[in-house]
Amino acid sequence: MSQTQSTLTQTPLEKTWVPWMKSRMSQRRGSSVPQFTNSPTMIVMVGLPARGKTYISKKLTRYLNWIGVTTKVFNVGQYRRNATQSYNSFEFFRPDNTEAMKIRKYEPNRNLLLFVFDATNTTPDRRELLLSFAKENGYKVCYFSNLLKHKSKNFNQVKLSSPDYVGCDKDEAVADFLKRIECYKLTYVPLDDIKDRNLSYIKIFNVGSRYLVNRVQDHIQSRIVYYLMNIHVTPRSIYLSRHGESELNLVGRIGGDSGLSQRGANFANALGTYMRGQCIRDLKVWTSHMKRTIQTAEALGVQYEQWKALNEIDAGVCEEMTYEEIQENYPEEFALRDQDKYRYRYPKGESYEDLVQRLEPVIMELERQENVLVICHQAVMRCLLAYFLDKSADELPYLKCPLHTVLKLTPVAYGCKVESVFLNVEAVNTHRDKPVNVDVDRDTADALETVPDHI
Ligand code: F6P
Repeated sequence: MSQTQSTLTQTPLEKTWVPWMKSRMSQRRGSSVPQFTNSPTMIVMVGLPARGKTYISKKLTRYLNWIGVTTKVFNVGQYRRNATQSYNSFEFFRPDNTEAMKIRKYEPNRNLLLFVFDATNTTPDRRELLLSFAKENGYKVCYFSNLLKHKSKNFNQVKLSSPDYVGCDKDEAVADFLKRIECYKLTYVPLDDIKDRNLSYIKIFNVGSRYLVNRVQDHIQSRIVYYLMNIHVTPRSIYLSRHGESELNLVGRIGGDSGLSQRGANFANALGTYMRGQCIRDLKVWTSHMKRTIQTAEALGVQYEQWKALNEIDAGVCEEMTYEEIQENYPEEFALRDQDKYRYRYPKGESYEDLVQRLEPVIMELERQENVLVICHQAVMRCLLAYFLDKSADELPYLKCPLHTVLKLTPVAYGCKVESVFLNVEAVNTHRDKPVNVDVDRDTADALETVPDHI
């Protein structure tokens, strides 16, 4: 596009955003634009309000972060709210409201490598602008559009609890929101399968009954497609529980494949009673291949499925040791694990990071299923919980998953409700907190490393 043409056709939004993009682009001049196979991706949402864009953005971002692809959502609505402090009415969204258009300028986080751009992006102009920005900055772009024949059911629940309508009458809020949608409809041009055939995009029709995937560019994009094809919005609960207390738990030894202690067996019975009380007709029960989870499931008296992927973290040479014995026999290993518990891999064993990779198929299947009880282990339960609660790699290995306590996870709006139910059977505590002085030690170690040799 020539300079004159672009000035003539610029919207107010572009007038504010283009200068920023140009300055960003000029910072890159002289250096070649990166074109790696794994160059970062911008997932650009396209669609009218209340089409599940924010839901998908958040969920996808949580998944990508969990598998180790650092991702952030940039939510333009949130940016607008921060910029304007208060929201008056749908008038703000009228395309001829130039003042509002100025406020609706935004600036994506410059440091992020992969981000989900959560906005309506309903006009070809806006999408064209994003595309040229992405091209100049070495981003791949993949558009995403959720096409619903009927109005989304989550319209009332999610949108009306939005910060825009705090303290507002419900009917007025509905009316205002519907008018807001009408404003967008005035300029909305959906992605076109002929005109946009050279673009990468994913379209989902009618809550996942049909998918159209065009020009997937790389491995991450194909994983995104795969993920989106597996998720659903049917209400359900996922129950996470560790096995009953084991003989090795009783004596403070990690790993191994021991059976349940007497208290562990009592917990298994209590778990059966609790699950029956939940009155779920089609409950699926999953265990690992280890004795202690299988014995726990047996007490439920229902069919269960065994997953090797659910086995406890492999502590390699430290299997069946107590933490004290590890510290005594492998002091360096013990200290290293405290420094970076997520990435630390036991000699001949696994790390939490390895475990997350091993558990990905379990997460994918959990996404496909409805009500499931997963009977697993401490480290495994932490990994699964981190996925549902969006916990970082630093937090994950220290999440509290005590024995004999069921966590009931129920998806709500953009997150997950957690109910923690202790089944009243005592058990040993197997949780070991992060030692408080570990960072000081690391700082000291770093400082020592930088001391010149001659001192
Ligand atoms: O102690 C029980 C246990 O499940 C062990 O088998 C496993 O090694 C450990 O918990 C994992 O917890 P952490 O990573 O805190 O050592």
